[in-house]
Amino acid sequence: MQKKGSVSITGVSRYLPEQRLTNADLEKMVDTSDEWIQTRTGIRERRILDKDLGTSYMAAQALESLLEQKGMNAKDIDLIIVATITPDMMYPATACLVQDSVGAQNAWGFDLSAACCGFLYALVVGSQFVETGAHKRVAVIGADKMSAVVDYTDRETCVLFGDGAGAVLLEPAEDGAGIRDFIFHIDGSGGKHLCQPGGGSLHPASHETVDKKMHYIYQEGREVFRFAVPSLAGVSARLLERNGLTGEDIALFVPHQANKRIIDASVNRLKLSTDRVLINIDRYANTTSGTIPIGLSEAVEQGRIKPGDNILLASVGGGYTWGSILLKWAY
Ligand code: UT7
Repeated sequence: MQKKGSVSITGVSRYLPEQRLTNADLEKMVDTSDEWIQTRTGIRERRILDKDLGTSYMAAQALESLLEQKGMNAKDIDLIIVATITPDMMYPATACLVQDSVGAQNAWGFDLSAACCGFLYALVVGSQFVETGAHKRVAVIGADKMSAVVDYTDRETCVLFGDGAGAVLLEPAEDGAGIRDFIFHIDGSGGKHLCQPGGGSLHPASHETVDKKMHYIYQEGREVFRFAVPSLAGVSARLLERNGLTGEDIALFVPHQANKRIIDASVNRLKLSTDRVLINIDRYANTTSGTIPIGLSEAVEQGRIKPGDNILLASVGGGYTWGSILLKWAY
């Protein structure tokens, strides 16, 4: 589907908790090693949010710093979409808590749950409201407190995840800039390989669900890895191809940060030079919905993106969900 490109990201910010959990810390908690974690995943450390705070806190912090950066009042926001799989609670939606926290009195909002693709899906959903002219300023936030759903006795998952949030502002675009195209997929047959089975309507919280550890992330890592590598690379390659572009036309590739080896495989397939790839998994691990807006925010701060640049975003994860977005950067 060709898009006109009438909506752009016009600001981006992030929030990472102060507290660091290093590989050395994890060596004391489970049977693992810094060497295993770094060579198999690329992760050195991750950030952990205070126990007493929820995902909405990080989302609100990211949004507040975005408003400050833009010199904007919270009342100017029309819509808040929060991509998350770790909402503060089943309901109200995290978007409602964020709206109240930042004082966005004129906004409505909702949460979007698509695991690692949550932010990408939310970006395209949010962009529709600007494209149709219904709204002028849409905040799209990706935020997850993965430490709330990680079993810190399971070495196969606890080394992989961290907490964090990123927020972008969507506004009508100047000619030629903006979201140019996207390809999204889901395949529910893969859902069983990466899930959090307890706490929903099928398995509501009970002594049994707690005893069986059903409120934690369950992941068959090898299975997910096998799916992730061709999916991430394939969807990105198809998106470039149908827009008549090659890896050389991309100024920056901002992939989901689940495993450095998955990113490297995609980079090889897309024939991208490594200096055009955003990698921060070493410092933050996998923050699920947070990885891509956090990465974009760092890239802008480091001057790695200029107006007119082609930017490629891509993700794959639980669902299965996978997809890629092509942007022409606006500012
Ligand atoms: O964002 C959501 C999407 N998720 C992903 O994209 C994750 C995809 N999967 C992965 O990134 C990788 O599969 C993992 C990082 C999870 C695992 O890496 P792997 O190279 O696939 O390792 P493996 O699962 O094949 O395990 C190899 C060995 C096993 O031992 P044996 O059976 O060979 O004796 C594991 O028990 O490594 C062992 N192992 C560990 N050893 C030390 C697994 N976790 C650890 C650990 N420390 N933390």
